[in-house]
Amino acid sequence: MKKQNGWLMGILALAVLCLHYMFESNMTSEALEPQKVGSDVLNIAHRGASGYAPEHTMIAYQIADEMEADFLEIDVHMTSDGELVAMHDDDIARTTDGEGFIQEMTYEEINKLDAGSWFNEAYPNHSDPRYQQVSVPKLTDILDYFGTSTKYYIEIKNAASAGQLLQTLEAYQLIEEEAVILQSFDSKVLQQVYEQYPTIPLIQLLGKNKMLFANYKKIRKYAVGVGLPYQKLNQRLIRHLHGNGLLVHTYTVNDEADMKRLIEWGIDGIFTDYPDRLYHIKENRMNVLRPFN
Ligand code: G3P
Ligand code: CA
Repeated sequence: MKKQNGWLMGILALAVLCLHYMFESNMTSEALEPQKVGSDVLNIAHRGASGYAPEHTMIAYQIADEMEADFLEIDVHMTSDGELVAMHDDDIARTTDGEGFIQEMTYEEINKLDAGSWFNEAYPNHSDPRYQQVSVPKLTDILDYFGTSTKYYIEIKNAASAGQLLQTLEAYQLIEEEAVILQSFDSKVLQQVYEQYPTIPLIQLLGKNKMLFANYKKIRKYAVGVGLPYQKLNQRLIRHLHGNGLLVHTYTVNDEADMKRLIEWGIDGIFTDYPDRLYHIKENRMNVLRPFN
């Protein structure tokens, strides 16, 4: 029995060592400089100011802009008639009064939906009559309204929308204006975008499981950084990724203590539903630093 336990412990230690080696070997030895996008920690309004207003609505983006967010985060999907709309889920049931999949509906059908009343029911503390009957915005509605007065952090939720998205960004000249970052969990679509538009900053999103086994060297070939869940981050990993020339953005951080800790660790960008909280932390930090600048 003792002998068996010994073997078991040995195998376990070996497995941990292999994992560690796999992780280390994914990291390059020479230190690369991450390509900074912006001078300070990016304040990325997650689905707009979605802590205060219905996510992915014009009013959530307007509030985020008033709260000095650096980027508006927009998840895009494509309708059956080729319109790009802002919505997180591919199914409309959670954030509208309708049912069905976006890719099976025309924009005219989606435009009739109420994309705000659900928020008043779900968050009575933040409910507001202005949220009733608000509609699902098209990407072009958002770009027409804000133009280049703000920047856009757009997530490609399905590869089918990538071509239309790039055409739209070209038409609005947002690529040469460096007013856009593109992100996705889909590494293939990001690599395709990189081949066509190597100057667009790309962020490879990774979930809790994938981040352990990710090939960061390979990601660095097409992306300027990674988007990781903050719960799995630590200072050592951030340093490692910086050492590999990768920016580190993290989602979705709403607690001020978490924001401060991540900033101390050298995070480059934070997705938050409360851009005002991050704005004030950055302002206070700048006030402390200013006398020394
Ligand atoms: O895009 C960053 C973060 O938003 C990823 O998660 O599910 O909120 O789109 P999700
Ligand atoms: Ca997203």
